[in-house]
Amino acid sequence: MEQIVILDFGSQFTQVIARRIRECRVYSTILRYDTPASTLAALAPKGLILSGGPSSVYDPKAPLPDPGIFKLGVPILGICYGVQLLTHFLGGKVEPGQKREYGKGTLTLKESSAALFANLPDRLQIWNSHGDKLTRLPKGFRAVAASDNSEFAAIEDTARNFHGLQFHPEVAHTPRGREIISNFVHGICGCGKEWTMRRFIDQAVEEIQAQIGGERVILGLSGGVDSSVAAALLHKAVGKQLTCIFVNNGLLRAGEAEVVREVFTRHFKIRLDYRNASRLFLGRLKGVTDPERKRKIIGKTFIKVFASAARHAGRAKFLAQGTLYPDVIESVPIAGNPAALIKSHHNVGGLPKNLKFLLTEPLKRLFKDEVRQLGLELGLPEEIVFRQPFPGPGLAVRILGAVTPARCEILRAADSIVVKEMKACGLYYKIWQSFAVLLPVRSVGVMGDERTYENTIVIRAVESQDGMTADWAKLPYDLLERLSTRIINEVKGVNRVCLDISSKPPATIEWE
Ligand code: XMP
Repeated sequence: MEQIVILDFGSQFTQVIARRIRECRVYSTILRYDTPASTLAALAPKGLILSGGPSSVYDPKAPLPDPGIFKLGVPILGICYGVQLLTHFLGGKVEPGQKREYGKGTLTLKESSAALFANLPDRLQIWNSHGDKLTRLPKGFRAVAASDNSEFAAIEDTARNFHGLQFHPEVAHTPRGREIISNFVHGICGCGKEWTMRRFIDQAVEEIQAQIGGERVILGLSGGVDSSVAAALLHKAVGKQLTCIFVNNGLLRAGEAEVVREVFTRHFKIRLDYRNASRLFLGRLKGVTDPERKRKIIGKTFIKVFASAARHAGRAKFLAQGTLYPDVIESVPIAGNPAALIKSHHNVGGLPKNLKFLLTEPLKRLFKDEVRQLGLELGLPEEIVFRQPFPGPGLAVRILGAVTPARCEILRAADSIVVKEMKACGLYYKIWQSFAVLLPVRSVGVMGDERTYENTIVIRAVESQDGMTADWAKLPYDLLERLSTRIINEVKGVNRVCLDISSKPPATIEWE
């Protein structure tokens, strides 16, 4: 399949570039900045993109590409640090700018024939983030657009098909940036529009069948988006050879186990081993209040239950996981790149390490939004495909203090009201997460003529792109009023509802 390769020099936007290209229906891969030119040649990409990055090309520790990439005869687009590399390697000059150019700017096109700007107006809003700037172009290049602070905001060498942008076309703050990227991948690199979910499915099914052969596969279904889509895809490829294991740990949201069973057994007719281990989990959690201990107990218990179900499933050679592309991209640990710090720090109870399986990861080439698209294409309901993230240890992280069946019931009932009301007003699928938290705090209230001494529920609703940072959601007052009234009236044991107005950082999304 045609592809564009992005060399990652440590920009926090590298994955955004990859996604923009895929939105143009072209497959894209991210590789480390120092990938040898011979490796690239073997991949035969239709184009190369050099990403931005926090370094300066003159920094002794600056990440540099294999100079052989400039001789591959492949079109190249350098973005920000990437254009400085082009300039530096090909004989131009880069110097520290007098002024750091950061934030919104205006681009003025000087050469209307420039291929990157085909069908775009002469003036464009752009987004900058750079300190160094180009002061002399390499031979063969010309400036095609200028910004407020740079004569060389966009450059090109049409003979070699090299292009460079000082600004970031991939971010949303460059509103016509998608068209610039589309001009590169379609206009300059000549890519068609091959990357569609239909094609992905056909290809993935073939690959899965080739990998699995006649063997059996097991998959731990959590009810979340990734494992659900992985299950549906594998089922399409190997049918009854797949057994899904769904562990009810007694810490699920209201109706969750039922939805999963309904969708996977009735609709898809997937072999589903449903294990209700609520008692075991809640028994082991009895009296435990320390959040880390709760997580450990839940993780260990999960492995035990899963392993027993796996043995029961017959001799499975493969374990399927819903790993996504961002988890497999080798990160470029360059100081100053916040992306280098982003880790999936929450994977308790994921892979049972002592089980000897071969792994199959059918989603490992996809971004989250592509996984959702794939899920819809495979016929999964929106309720699963657009589900908000839910922590593996479930309600245990949202019940502060001891986890008891009674406290699970209180939280489940309150949370279910939050979910229903959020769905009813259309906000549930628009924000990142919205849920209830149960505090180990009781306070006095009056109900009718009676004095009460009951529990406190907190409403937590946040907006976020990836869970790493988050803003508290400004929910409308009438919704908050309905939530408070309904929770206090309908959930026995609650007489007070509070709203969490902290952002992350410094707070976290979950309370624990
Ligand atoms: P925090 O609380 O760290 O959460 O701000 C960030 C995101 O991660 C989710 N989360 C988890 N997901 N297993 C998971 O699969 C976990 O143990 C876990 N803990 C937190 C949380 O819901 C939020 O989206």
